[in-house]
Amino acid sequence: MGLIKSIKNEIAVVKERDPAIHSSMEVFLYPSFRVMISYRIAHKLYMKKHYFLARWISQRAVRKTGIEIHPGAVIGEGFFIDHGNGVVIGETAEIGNNVTLYQGVTLGGTGKESGKRHPTVCDNVMISAGAKVLGSFTIGEGSKIGAGSVVLEAVPPHSTVVGVPGHVVNRKNSVMPRETLDQTDLPDPVQEDIMTLKKENSELTTRLLNLEDEMRSLKRSVDAGQK
Ligand SMILES: CC(C)(COP(=O)(O)OP(=O)(O)OC[C@H]1O[C@@H](n2cnc3c(N)ncnc32)[C@H](O)[C@@H]1OP(=O)(O)O)[C@@H](O)C(=O)NCCC(=O)NCCS
Repeated sequence: MGLIKSIKNEIAVVKERDPAIHSSMEVFLYPSFRVMISYRIAHKLYMKKHYFLARWISQRAVRKTGIEIHPGAVIGEGFFIDHGNGVVIGETAEIGNNVTLYQGVTLGGTGKESGKRHPTVCDNVMISAGAKVLGSFTIGEGSKIGAGSVVLEAVPPHSTVVGVPGHVVNRKNSVMPRETLDQTDLPDPVQEDIMTLKKENSELTTRLLNLEDEMRSLKRSVDAGQK
């Protein structure tokens, strides 16, 4: 893709994704916009093995934006970093389309792997402020990672993960961050499981009481027959 097309795409992404924007000119002030233009150029140079020049451009972008994207990372269309400061994306990270990151996110390695050592993030994923995703596993499509989480293993598609270490609290979320930017109003699978267990428990109790009644009347008939 040519640079002009890249710039147009990045402008469209920022305008679409940030509800706080008031005019097109503001796009040029966004760290996400600036870093992505640098990244697209640096990535092309990296692919042509101009490693020093690629790193020079990306390190310059770090100083201007506070966002460090290694030029070797592979990033799809519609990528947006809100606020941005403190974001780090490692060399072997792969990011699908329409992914949103917030400030302070790390897509990093654990230091224990070689080769592919950074995460693969599928389409429509949202990674909240301060979350650390460490390792070469995959974050499934449409998943949300909660603020401050430390995610150390694969996340199934359409899941919400929170905590340290990260654990799944919602597996049925099909609301895409790109469509709604809704960060809170999601179904609660734990509550749903509790309600199902309560219902089953109540049905079992009723069946047990009926069985006890039947046993008692059977015993009464047997006793009456013996007399
Ligand atoms: C995770 C998130 C994306 C969506 O959460 P959700 O699916 O609606 O989950 P809920 O709010 O129902 O919470 C489910 C459980 O996880 C907990 N939880 C939610 N977010 C959490 C987080 N970041 N860290 C730890 N626990 C969290 C809740 O307390 C709740 O626990 P409980 O069941 O014991 O009460 C949201 O909480 C979040 O972190 N948003 C941050 C977005 C962001 O970065 N904004 C920055 C803008 S500048």
